[in-house]
Order: sequence, then C-alpha cells, then structure tokens
Amino acid sequence: MRIGVLTSGGDAPGMNAAIRAAVRQADALGHEAWGIRQGFQGVLEKDWAPMPTRACANILQRGGTVLHTARCPEFLEIHRRADAAANLREAGIQALVIIGGDGSFRGAEALQREQGILCAGIPGTIDNDLPGTDRTLGFDTALNTAVEAIDRIRDTASAHGRLFLVEVMGRSSGMLAVHTALACGAEAVLYPESPDDSYQALVARLHANWLRGKRSSIVVVAEGDDLGNAMVVGARLRRDYGLDLRVVVLGHIQRGGSPSALDRIWGSRWGAEAVRRLAAGEGGFYLGEVAGALAVQPLARILDPRPAPPGDMGELVDILSR
Ligand code: F6P
Repeated sequence: MRIGVLTSGGDAPGMNAAIRAAVRQADALGHEAWGIRQGFQGVLEKDWAPMPTRACANILQRGGTVLHTARCPEFLEIHRRADAAANLREAGIQALVIIGGDGSFRGAEALQREQGILCAGIPGTIDNDLPGTDRTLGFDTALNTAVEAIDRIRDTASAHGRLFLVEVMGRSSGMLAVHTALACGAEAVLYPESPDDSYQALVARLHANWLRGKRSSIVVVAEGDDLGNAMVVGARLRRDYGLDLRVVVLGHIQRGGSPSALDRIWGSRWGAEAVRRLAAGEGGFYLGEVAGALAVQPLARILDPRPAPPGDMGELVDILSR
C-alpha cells in the first residue's frame, strides 16, 4: 500500500516524531510512505515524493515539520476535495496520515466520507483543543516554553515591582493559558471559557493582592479572551488606573523549539498506530490519549464541542496567588 503523510495547519513540536514513526512503521510492514509537502495544498499541487526511512534521520528532536505545512482554504470546497482525491488516485496513494488540528481533521473527515480516501488523523496543535483526546502534539512543549519565558519575566517584574500582562497563544481556547498560569504561579488568568472573566473581577483581584503587599503581578492572557488580547486589556488598565505595566506577547516562540519527551513519545506512538490501522484497511479515525491510554476516535467526532480547561485549575490560580 502507498501511504501519504502530511502535516497541516500551524506547525507543532512533535510533528516530526509522528512523520518519522509513520514512515518507518510503513517500511517495517512492507508498505511505501510518500511525503506530501505543505499539507492539503501539496495534495492539490501533487507536491509529493517517496519518503525513504533514511529521510527521517535526525528529525525526532527537531521542531517545525520537515514536510512543511500550510493552511488550505481551498479545501473547504467540495470540488477541490474531489480534485485532491483524483490526484491521490492517479499517484496510487490509497491512504493518508494527516497530522494537524481542528481544520485539518475536518478536511480529513470530508475526504474520507465524500471521496472514500482512507484517512487517519494525528492531533498536532499547540492549542490542545480537540475533542476526544487529553493531549495534542506540541502542547506540552509550548507549555514548557511559555513557563520558562514567564519565569524570566517574573525576575524583572519582581525587581521593578511591575504588573506584566503576558499573552499566550491558543486561538479561541484557554487550555494553554490556564495550564501556563498555574505552572508559573500567575496572579490571574484571562481565558475565554472562564466563568468569571470580567474586567472588574480582574481589577478587584489585582487590588486585593496589592493590599496583601504584592508589588508585582503576572496576568496570563489567552489571545482569544473575550476582554480582548493583552494589548487591549493593558491599554484599558493604563487608561483607568495609570499603571506602569508592561505587555509581552509570547507569540510564535511557543510554536518553535525541540519537542519535549512526551511530545516525541506520543508522536511516535500515534504515527506508528495510524499506519498499522491504515495498512489493515481501517480509515476514518483519529488517535488520541485518554486517561493515559492510546484512544481511537471516529473522524466525525471532530464536530463535537471542544474541550474546556478544567474549571478547578482557573480557580486554583486565584487561590494560590495570594
Ligand atoms: O493553532 C495554532 C496557533 O498557533 C494558534 O494558537 C494561533 O492562534 C495560530 O496558530 C496562529 O497562526 P499563524 O501562525 O497562522 O499566525
């Protein structure tokens, strides 16, 4: 069987581990892996080539994706998905391993359902916002990157007795923000799923900490928070209270870097499992981790509501910040 492997959407540390595992597991089973560059765009442009096992040498520890990635709005159109399926059939590619997030899995789900191409999804996004899995590749690495950065900010915040607003990624999900805030002992966290995400609540919390004698504070702001991003919230606090605060946007620093051990391990397990199942004729699923065990979900599950950060974690940030 000829199995295509692609990475799609925002890159995430651990994608290379999944590519390597898929390619080498295919070889071990006597199948042929092809690398498709730039995600679904590469399928439309026939940008692919056989990927021998040696093409995966020394990629396990590298961030980014050796297959490159892209967002592909054209794939939202049914006639372009039909073009993609025709291209795959012409090249003899019977199955696809799709490493990506929400949009990529929606594309995979449609490709399998409408065009009958065998598709296997591997969760790859730093946002950790997919239903049916506790983990996505890149989340653990991005979390550790953000925590390391904020530890450094803490030193200077404390030295100057300043308030810092630190914006983390996550699109419309607060997963990364809440986990980061708890891990770095932030004084507050603003995130979209929060039950108490008002400006007044934030001000009251900062004021209470001030009265307790805290002279520096770190507020983690999810980029998709309802109050606005860190720049917006910072401008409002400056205007209303004349605070000498600083805003730091961590941005794409969180997407780069060498994957953590956990992201390498899950990338390897998922890459190999996806190929084993495709080789057995199974498609239309994505892999995940639920309560520590490898889980298999139907691709249609991507349409379920997205997971929210555990409520007790946001509360704990508050309680522990006093
Ligand atoms: O989905 C991953 C992610 O990093 C989000 O957290 C962020 O909102 C988005 O991608 C940024 O996308 P781009 O790299 O296209 O600016």
